[in-house]
Amino acid sequence: MKRNVDHSLFDKAKQNKNDEFYTLLPDIERELVHYFDQFRGKKVFCSCDNPTTSNFFRYFVQNFQNLGLKKVVAACLGKPSGDLFEPFKPGFYYEYSGRENKTPTLADVSYFRGDGDFRSEESVALLKDADVVVTNPPFSLFREFIAQLVECGKKFLVIGNINAITYKEIFKLIQDNEVWMGVNMGRGISGFRVPDHYDLYGLETRVNEAGEKIVSPNNCMWLTNLDLPSRHETIPLVRTYSGNEHEYPHFDNCDAINVNRTQNIPMDYDGLMGVPITFLHRFNPEQFKIVRFRKGDDGRDLSIGGKPTYFRILIQRRSSESNVAKDDYIDSAKMTDHHVLTELAKKAVSPAIHAASLAIFAKMST
Ligand SMILES: C[S@@+](CC[C@H](N)C(=O)[O-])C[C@H]1O[C@@H](n2cnc3c(N)ncnc32)[C@H](O)[C@@H]1O
Repeated sequence: MKRNVDHSLFDKAKQNKNDEFYTLLPDIERELVHYFDQFRGKKVFCSCDNPTTSNFFRYFVQNFQNLGLKKVVAACLGKPSGDLFEPFKPGFYYEYSGRENKTPTLADVSYFRGDGDFRSEESVALLKDADVVVTNPPFSLFREFIAQLVECGKKFLVIGNINAITYKEIFKLIQDNEVWMGVNMGRGISGFRVPDHYDLYGLETRVNEAGEKIVSPNNCMWLTNLDLPSRHETIPLVRTYSGNEHEYPHFDNCDAINVNRTQNIPMDYDGLMGVPITFLHRFNPEQFKIVRFRKGDDGRDLSIGGKPTYFRILIQRRSSESNVAKDDYIDSAKMTDHHVLTELAKKAVSPAIHAASLAIFAKMST
């Protein structure tokens, strides 16, 4: 008799192969410092984390008192079993409320009946009990992971690939101000520990003092719905459209101008502007609104002179923003440029952007 096979199990096993990128403690510390006061009295759930090895779990246990946490739970998928019909052994979890064993071993954990998939009933029950989810979820299931958190109305701070911004489901959440980018991205996330057998063609790889393989893909970001002060900071605008129209060509298929860099957004243009994805890192929803991603009025990629441009996000200034006295604006921009460009250089996604930011900074300082 023909056996009914659940293909999602095969898919899960296949996807799981490339998901083992373990987050480093310094990267967690560098990001979490920006949200410290938002964890008081909260229950944290690290839903894709082995409690015996995860640096996320370690971070929350070590900082339990300082953060004023109520509880931290780490749960993980069981190991691959080698059996195609039941590819994973039972998953397990561990709860810490301030008194239990700080560094649990496998003898201390509780086992799920099932595999511990973040979509399983048992894992969802832990999720529902939690206030904030902090983890680095499987890249291959990123859309699904975020959708679940939004549906359950949870606060979260997670690591993802920068490319995820271009997924229509994620972009929609960003457009609707339901999620936004965290502080560190690109080279601001130093790397991940990977299993020794991983093939890492074309990636920056090193071996640390402990003999562990570390890879730095430089294409990751934090995504969150926890508040950040930078979301309320106005991007200083110092350029003008008027008199510099040639620097801001119109798209062929949309009534909008192209702006190559966030710092070049003109202060005197109230229509649509196509800006690079890196704009999202500085996006203040009180200053701008996001109108559309990448496409012109004809549904095709935005183009200039018949040539498609790099991915662009169409934005527009909020009307109150247009009324700000321009002279005041320029003064404040002058004062903050030093800070802004230094920050930009620190957070730049690629060495080229990094170098360019420093060059602008050097030019402005002379
Ligand atoms: C990118 S790794 C990060 C691990 C850990 N969160 C960290 O940052 O060190 C993603 C983890 O999710 C696990 N995973 C993959 N599919 C999963 C699923 N459906 N449910 C729960 N965990 C899953 C993988 O086994 C892997 O350990």
